[in-house]
Amino acid sequence: MARFAKRVLSIEPSPTVRISELVTEMKARGEKVVSLAIGEPDFPTPAHIVEAAKKALDDGYTKYTPAPGIKELREAIAEKSQRENKIPAKAENVIVAPTKHTLFLTCMALLDRGDEALIPDPGWVSYGPMVTLAGAKPVPVRAADEDGFVPSAETVEQAVTPHTRLLMLNSPSNPGGSVYSRDAMRALADLAADRDLIVVSDEIYEKILYDGEHVSPASLDGMFDRTVTVHGFSKTYAMTGWRLGWLVAPTPLFREIVKVQEHTITCATAFAQKAGVAALRGPTAPIEAMVAEFRARRDLVMKELAKIDRLSTDRPSGAFYVFPQVDAGLDSATLCERILKEASVAVTPGSAFGEAGEGHIVSAARARSSIFRRKVLIPTRHLMEGGEASTASPRDSRGRGTPPTMRCR
Ligand SMILES: Cc1ncc(COP(=O)(O)O)c(C=O)c1O
Repeated sequence: MARFAKRVLSIEPSPTVRISELVTEMKARGEKVVSLAIGEPDFPTPAHIVEAAKKALDDGYTKYTPAPGIKELREAIAEKSQRENKIPAKAENVIVAPTKHTLFLTCMALLDRGDEALIPDPGWVSYGPMVTLAGAKPVPVRAADEDGFVPSAETVEQAVTPHTRLLMLNSPSNPGGSVYSRDAMRALADLAADRDLIVVSDEIYEKILYDGEHVSPASLDGMFDRTVTVHGFSKTYAMTGWRLGWLVAPTPLFREIVKVQEHTITCATAFAQKAGVAALRGPTAPIEAMVAEFRARRDLVMKELAKIDRLSTDRPSGAFYVFPQVDAGLDSATLCERILKEASVAVTPGSAFGEAGEGHIVSAARARSSIFRRKVLIPTRHLMEGGEASTASPRDSRGRGTPPTMRCR
C-alpha cells in the first residue's frame, strides 16, 4: 500500500479541476463548450520565434545547456531587465526555467519548516501549495475588491511575524488584474526592508498592461539585494507550451537557488532557449497586436457586464482576466458549475484563488468579440437575470429549481 509524504497530502487538489473535468466530459458527449477557464492567450506563438526554434533544432541544440541557461539568453534577459525594468541585473543573476518552476526553486531555496510566506488573497492558485511543498506556511494577505486587489503595506504589516521570510507580490495580478502603483510598491518595499523580508515579485503579466505603469520592486532603491523577480514567455509571447521563463536574483540568493535547479530539471529545454532569444530580441508588433486585442475584449466585457445590474466588476488594468463579484446565493464553485451546465461556458470559481476570492468568478478573455458576446455574455446574462441559458433546467446546490440571486455589492 503506497504511503504519501505529508507535504503532498497537505495540499488540496486544485478546485479548478472539477470544472475542467466537467468540460472534458461535456466535450466527450459532443457538447460545444466555450472554455474561459484557462490562463492562456488564444494566439499562436509569433512565427519568428517558432522559426528560431526550428533552426536551433537543425543546428543541434538538443543537449544539456549550463544549468542557469545559455549565455545569449541570460544576456538578453539581463539587458531587458535593465532597459525596461531598471533592475540592475547582470547575466550572472539570471536563471532560465519555466516560470512556475522559478517560483518553486525560490521557495525551496529560501523557506524552511516553520517559516511563513505572505501571499496575496485573492492570488494565483499555486503560490500557497508551493510554499506548503517547501515545508513552510502560506499566510494569505487580504487584497480584495475594497483594496483594488493590491495588498496594502498596513495589511501586510499586520500579517508579519518573527517567522515571516517572504512576501509574494504579483503586478499585474491574477486574478484581479490590478496594477500596483509606484507609491504602493514603494510602501511594500519599505516594509520588506524594515522587517527584513525577501520580496518575490511575479511579473509574468508585465506586458499585458492597459492602464498605469509597471513598477519592478527590484528597481527601487536598496531593493535589488532582497528581491527575486520572476518572469516568463508564456503570456507575453503566447508560449505557454514552451515552458520557458526566468528569475533574476542577487548573487547570494542566486547561488543557493541555482543548486535546486541543478538537482531538479538541470536546465531549461535547449532549443526553447534559442527561441527565447528570438522573442526578446525580435519584433514587438505581434505582442502589440495581441495586447490591443486583449484591451478591446476587456472593454467589450466591461460594457456587457455593466448591463447586468446585480453584478459588479472592477475594471482590470492588466492581465487578461475579469473577476466580477456576483454575490450570489450560491458559492462560487456551484455557480460556475451552473454556468457551465446551463450556458456551456467554463469559468473558474473565485474560491480557487483564496478566501477573499469567494463570491467571484474568473474568466479569461480568450474568445473573439463576436463569439464572446453571442456564446458567453448573452446566455450568462440571461442565466443571471433568472432565466434559463439553455434547455437544461436550472438547479441550485440543493437541487431546487430556483435560479441564483445576484446582488450588487
Ligand atoms: C500569476 C502567474 N504566475 C505564474 C504563472 C506560471 O506561468 P508558466 O505557465 O509560464 O509557468 C501563471 C500561469 O498562469 C500565473 O498566472
